[in-house]
Amino acid sequence: MKLFKILFLFIFIQANAQQGGMWIPSLLEGMNESEMKSLGSKLSAEDIYSINNSSLKDAIGHFNGGCTSELISSKGLLLTNHHCGFSQIQTHSTLENDYLKDGFWAMSRDEELPNQNLWVEFIVRIEDVTDKAFVGVSDEMTEEDKQSQIDKNINDVQKNVEKEDWQDTRVKAFYKGNQYFLFVTERFEDIRLVGAPPSSIGKFGSDTDNWVFPRHTGDFSLFRIYADKNNRPTKYSEDNVPYTPKHFLPVSLDGVAEGDFTLVFGFPGSTDEYLPAVAIEHITKEFNPSNIAIREAALKVIDAKMKASDDIRIKYASKQAGIANAWKKWIGENLGIEKTGAVEKRREFEASFTKALREKGLETKYGHILPEFDRLYQDFASINIKRRNFIEVFFITNELMKMAIQAYQFESALNEDPTNLEEGRDRLLRTLTNTHKNYDTELDKGVFKNVMPFYTDDSDVSIYDKTAFTDFESVSALLNGSAKQVLKKLNNDPAYVYAEPLIEEFNSSINPEYQQKRAAIAALQKQYMKALMETLPNARYFPDANNTMRVTYGQVRGYSPRDAVYYNPVSYLDGVIEKFVPGDYEFDVPQKLRDLHQAKDYGQYADENGKVPVCFLGTNHTTGGNSGSPAIDAEGNLIGINFDRVWEGTMSDMNYDPEICRNIMVDMRYILFIVDKYAEAKHLIEEMKLVHPKKIVVENR
Ligand code: ARG
Ligand code: ASP
Repeated sequence: MKLFKILFLFIFIQANAQQGGMWIPSLLEGMNESEMKSLGSKLSAEDIYSINNSSLKDAIGHFNGGCTSELISSKGLLLTNHHCGFSQIQTHSTLENDYLKDGFWAMSRDEELPNQNLWVEFIVRIEDVTDKAFVGVSDEMTEEDKQSQIDKNINDVQKNVEKEDWQDTRVKAFYKGNQYFLFVTERFEDIRLVGAPPSSIGKFGSDTDNWVFPRHTGDFSLFRIYADKNNRPTKYSEDNVPYTPKHFLPVSLDGVAEGDFTLVFGFPGSTDEYLPAVAIEHITKEFNPSNIAIREAALKVIDAKMKASDDIRIKYASKQAGIANAWKKWIGENLGIEKTGAVEKRREFEASFTKALREKGLETKYGHILPEFDRLYQDFASINIKRRNFIEVFFITNELMKMAIQAYQFESALNEDPTNLEEGRDRLLRTLTNTHKNYDTELDKGVFKNVMPFYTDDSDVSIYDKTAFTDFESVSALLNGSAKQVLKKLNNDPAYVYAEPLIEEFNSSINPEYQQKRAAIAALQKQYMKALMETLPNARYFPDANNTMRVTYGQVRGYSPRDAVYYNPVSYLDGVIEKFVPGDYEFDVPQKLRDLHQAKDYGQYADENGKVPVCFLGTNHTTGGNSGSPAIDAEGNLIGINFDRVWEGTMSDMNYDPEICRNIMVDMRYILFIVDKYAEAKHLIEEMKLVHPKKIVVENR
């Protein structure tokens, strides 16, 4: 028995040790393939990524640059998160047709809603172009000269790629600029909204439940990709037809159990896994707290106003969600770093790196790096915070200041060349039209009052009473006239007069100082990455996320967030009902869903115990951008969609720890149940390919 236990522990630790990392799909052969097999996968590297045959990668699309989506039918049906389609759902919502609140379902193709400025991009192929990128680069060159040679090489690579007319190319830096990969892509621009559950399902639990488990959110929405008659990407047209994909994902009705293999395939945005301890310390002790405080101050006003008015709730839904999301994430990130002693552990790691440098005679080559990091971060900390505070106040929380920046850009273009008037004015008016569609002056004034003191002692709320910018008619009038007249009026506007010197200070001193110091750190980080790989060559190195397609694998696992508490990896519909608070803005549950639960009217979507699974946890290493990513089983079937991480685990962006880092996925059976039983959109279920992978195994026996 004891031996068994030890063996089990060993296997468990082994399994843990092999997780974490976001891998390049075209390089899975070898280590990744065998790690995946040991975690239970039956997929080959070629099943996941192939350039000659259709493979899983052909079903995975980058959704508007910030999320992931996947094809689930031969007719271009596309699945992503509710929060990824949120701004589209919001744009189509009015007080009369409140799709945010009530949901939306196109019952036929002509009811599907086109969306401006929405695209989905697929990867045709990936090529390692590192050698080409480094042609003519030598150690004697300065960092600057190296980079400009690399940039020139990359340009050449991009120019000479063999590709079809409708395809695009992009070269991206990996491992902090030590490797380069080329991507050939296809971008579709006619993407229509097909379905979205009400927010009381798609955003159930809202901010209270965001970033935490147990979770009960049905975070999904459906779109459809349209192509031209030749099945190629094109802009919106009534004549377009549903896209026929090279591959779409079959949907499993069997789900997964604890310990089962899970693969998450998508477009993670950015991570920083190779930071020195001093950087983690700066981020968690100085940088995050200051950002958290500013957002908290803004949310105090926004949340109260949204609760008091439906009109404001619709107008500010997307903006509030964005502000609250990172705010809460940073709090969790700090908690996780603290709880796992990440800074201390990183210091210990650095000690072993230094020791290895000594042992391998690499001290003269790389010994300067860690002390240099200490020096650079000490010098960088305050400007990093100052610059970020500006961004938080002028771009993210306060809208009047953001309008002032847009006007400033307009003025700069005019000063450069007065003939820019018409074009610049049109552009500014278009931006302002969009802002004013979802603008509330009193709310914005409240935000200004709360956040501006974080940036400057001289915060003057009275500008709101006299500026033209808070009213679309008035600001349009202000922009009317000759270049000279417009500039004169603009420079008499109190909000503009207030903002201009602050913007100028940012442009002329704060941002340049930041950029210069940031660049020095980035150059050192590039050396450090190289030094790590050379000094400790046997460690597992994955490139930090950089908005490119990645594979991350793991298993379904619960976790222990604190002493004596263990979270099971699966939540159920029963739990939605447990959380139900009638009329609550976060925890209300639609009557129809309660009725279905009461009647246990679950169709084919309950598990073997007769319960409908809602969310489940995995050890996949994910980050922002992985939302909407398919969770795929050992055989390549869709079992869920990724949408979040557990709170203490959000530190995985700097410090993935298999003990407590978990990603959260919605179970496909919940999604199908909502589409079929709740929305009664059976035509959508019919176009999918539903499979029973586990049953087949039993029948074959
Ligand atoms: N935390 C998840 C992510 O970073 C989900 C956010 C959407 N939900 C919300 N309540 N804002 O995107
Ligand atoms: N919710 C995130 C996203 O939108 C995913 C994450 O950060 O875990 O991509």
